Amino acid sequence: MSEVHIVGGGVMGLGIAWRLARAGVRSTVYDAGEPGRGASWAAAGMLAPHAELQPEEEAQHRLGLRSQALWTSFSDELQADSGVDLLLDRTGTLLVAADRDEAEALERDLCWRDEAGVPYTRISAADARDLEPLLSPRIASAAHCPHDIQVSNRALLKALIQACDHSLITVRSHCAVDAIESADGLTLNLSNGESITAERVVLCAGAWSKALSPSGARAPIRPVKGQMLSLRTPGVTIRHVIRGFEAYLIPKSDGTLVVGATSEDVGFDANVTGGGVYELLKAAGELLPAIWEYPLAHTWAGFRPASRDNGPLLGETEIRGLFYCTGHYRHGIQQAPVSVLSVTAELLGGEPVDEALPFTPTRFGASAQPATTR
Ligand code: GLY
Repeated sequence: MSEVHIVGGGVMGLGIAWRLARAGVRSTVYDAGEPGRGASWAAAGMLAPHAELQPEEEAQHRLGLRSQALWTSFSDELQADSGVDLLLDRTGTLLVAADRDEAEALERDLCWRDEAGVPYTRISAADARDLEPLLSPRIASAAHCPHDIQVSNRALLKALIQACDHSLITVRSHCAVDAIESADGLTLNLSNGESITAERVVLCAGAWSKALSPSGARAPIRPVKGQMLSLRTPGVTIRHVIRGFEAYLIPKSDGTLVVGATSEDVGFDANVTGGGVYELLKAAGELLPAIWEYPLAHTWAGFRPASRDNGPLLGETEIRGLFYCTGHYRHGIQQAPVSVLSVTAELLGGEPVDEALPFTPTRFGASAQPATTR
């Protein structure tokens, strides 16, 4: 089977290269910078299809559930191939209402979770504070999603980079692809002037995918900026992932607490702003006043790749040999196993997984207009 050319070295691109190598297929991964330093690195690592469920997103939920079921074997295999512990934590997510208004909103959210058959347990504010004594005495109500997991997304990337150190994989760092042409077969035009003829290309360039998608198979994806920060905890802090309405808080095994995330339609502006940090800290402090004593460790921003319907683009496009694995918006890390396995299956001549079928890139039409602000 001929070599596969993969544009983008994030969780999807590296994941596909790793799975192809396991199947004995050669690939080259092109990354404009250092692999594993884009949205996958900026992410929070929540594997939370239950806590992050949005109304009217049934197909996304089914995809998320399939991915959640695959996470254990995906991480076991990756850990075995890389020797890197992905630090999976199964304590679950606490959905927390910071006040009475949010308690009403949480009650409405739980109603449509009931309709979707999502498993959770309603808990009183007092019981939530028994579980997490540092929660604010002002919180009004909570619910526990026990099947949500969290992973260290940075350990995941380290593991994938390690697993891609393989004789069948070439990783070309600082090697930007300027364009994918489909005039007479597929050609990658690199910014260093090289042209590479390819039988099969997979576009995994996240928020940058629209600019690289050829006119016969437009990927209507826009960047949605997320600012995040981390705080150094004194050691004892929360154990659950806490998801409030305005912020989420994630205790990491290195003793930091990650707080995320803004959601901004501002193009590729990577600045961390005073306003962004203020909003995050304010929302986090209302849930967990202890953070006011925690030293600020890091701030960063990343770009979620959002498609026009917020769903990913998975599989072969209108152009023969051109595949997409991109546009995962808020769920890239969570949906990595199912996306990687489905697109790899197609590349190997098999069928995509059933739950990926609604996310064919062809659903937007060959001349899809750019995504607009929603
Ligand atoms: N999934 C978390 C976020 O997009 O901020």
